Amino acid sequence: MSDLLTVILAAGKGTRMKSDLTKVLHPIAGKEMVKHVIESVDELSSKIVAVIGHQSKKVQESLNAYCLDFVEQKEQLGTAHAVMQAKKQIEAHDGPVLVLYGDTPLLKKSTIKKLINSHQKNNAGLSILTAHLDDPESYGRIIRDAKGEVNKIVEENDASESEKRVKEINSGVYCFDSNLLAESLDNIDTNNAQNEYYLTDAVDYIKNNGNKVIPVVIENTKEIIGVNDRSNLAKAEKVLRKRINEKLMASGVTIIDPSTTYIDKEVVIKKDTVIYPFTYIEKSTVIESGSVIGPHSRLVNAKLGKNVELKANSQVWESEIGNNCTIGPFAYIRPGSKIADEVKVGDFVELKKAQIGEKTKVPHLSYVGDASIGEKTNIGAGTIFANYDGKKKHKTKVGDSAFIGSNSTLVAPVKIDNNAKTGAGSVVTKDVKEGTVVLGVPAHIHKKCKKAKDD
Ligand code: UD1
Ligand code: CA
Repeated sequence: MSDLLTVILAAGKGTRMKSDLTKVLHPIAGKEMVKHVIESVDELSSKIVAVIGHQSKKVQESLNAYCLDFVEQKEQLGTAHAVMQAKKQIEAHDGPVLVLYGDTPLLKKSTIKKLINSHQKNNAGLSILTAHLDDPESYGRIIRDAKGEVNKIVEENDASESEKRVKEINSGVYCFDSNLLAESLDNIDTNNAQNEYYLTDAVDYIKNNGNKVIPVVIENTKEIIGVNDRSNLAKAEKVLRKRINEKLMASGVTIIDPSTTYIDKEVVIKKDTVIYPFTYIEKSTVIESGSVIGPHSRLVNAKLGKNVELKANSQVWESEIGNNCTIGPFAYIRPGSKIADEVKVGDFVELKKAQIGEKTKVPHLSYVGDASIGEKTNIGAGTIFANYDGKKKHKTKVGDSAFIGSNSTLVAPVKIDNNAKTGAGSVVTKDVKEGTVVLGVPAHIHKKCKKAKDD
C-alpha cells in the first residue's frame, strides 16, 4: 500500500445533537467519538489531518495525544469546504487520500483496508463505501445508471421522490486520488437545498473527466452508522458495547448477560473473571484474572488484583484493590483508596482516600476517610473515622493488629498504634499508644498491656 493521507472532518457543530458539547466529542463506550475514527486509521496512515472548527480548542486539546495535523475551518460551509481546508496537505501528497467523517465511529480497520485495496486495484479516481439499508434514513443516496455505475450522490433534502426510495446509501467513507480530489474541490458549488459545498459532488467532476468512481458495498451495515442525533448515539453505543463484550468473552471472560453489561473500550479484563449483570466497568479499569464482579456494580478507573470478589451493588472509583480481597455488598470505595491483598471490606462500608494493609477487615457499616490502617487490624461494625471538623479534613492512622470496638468514633487527627484496642462506643480524641486499651466518651486509658511502653 502506498503512503496514505487521511483527512478527518470534525468541524461541524452537530446541531441535531442539541448539545452544548460539539458532536465529535460525545463519548461512545467511554471514548470521544472522533477518537474511535482516528484509531481505526492510525496505523494505516502516513499522515492524518483533522479539520476542526466548532469548539476547535476543546477538540484539539482532547486529541493532543495523537500525531495529527490540525487545520481550522472557520465557517462550516459544508463537507467539501471542510476538505478544502486541507488542500495544502492534499496537494503535497501523491497517492490515495482517505476522507472520513468524525461522526462515523464504528468503522473497522479491515473495512478501510478493503476500500483502499479496491481503489488501488481498480486504479479508481474515487472509491466510495456504500451500504444497502432497509431504512435509508437521511443518508445521501447512491444513484446508479443503467450500467450499474455510480452516476451521482443525492442528499435527502435534494432528492426526488423516486431517488428517496433508493436504498443504497453513501457511508461518507471515501478514497480519492490526491490530484483529482484537489481539482474537484475547485469545481464544487453551493447550488443545492442547503447552500453548502457538498463533498459528494466530487463524483460529478471525477466522472466527467473520464475517471472511475467505484462503489464498494459493505455487508455489515452497522459499521457505517453516522451519529447525527442522540438516537444514533445510543444505536452506535449498543453496537460498540456488543463488540467489546464479544472480544472479552473470546479472551476467556464470562459475561453472564452481555446485553446488560456495559464495558468501556479502554478496559482490560483478564481471563476467568466472571461479570454479573447490570454492571458498568468504565474508563481505564483493569481487572486481573479470576475475579467475580457484580451484579449491579460500577467501577471507574479502578485497578483490581486477582481473585477479587466485588459483591452486589458495590462501586469502586479511582482506587486500587489487591489480590484475594472481598468487597461489599453495598461497598462504596471512593477515589484515592488503596487496599492491599486479602482485605475484607464488607457491607455498607464507605472508604475515601483510605490505605488499608494486608489481611485487615472492615466488615460492616463503617466510614473510613483520609485514613491509613495497617495489617491484620479489625475495624468493628459502625466505626466512624470523623475526619472533618467543619473547616478542614484531618488524617487518622491506625497501626497493625489493632482492634477497634464496634461503634467507635475516631476523631481526626488521631493515631492509634499497633496492638491497641478501643472499647465499643469509644469516642477517641487523643492518640492511643501501642498495646493500650481505651474506652468511654471521651475515651480514657483502661489498661496497658505488659509489652506497652510507659510514656
Ligand atoms: C454526510 C453526507 C451524506 C452521507 C452521510 C454519511 C455530504 C454532503 N453528505 O451527510 O451523503 O450519507 O454524511 O454519514 O457530505 N463537517 C465539517 N464541516 C462542515 C460540515 C460538516 O467538518 O462544514 C463534518 C461534521 O463534523 C461531520 C461530517 O463532516 O463529522 C459530516 O457532516 P454531517 O453534517 O453530519 O453530514 P450528513 O448530513 O450526515
Ligand atoms: Ca453525519
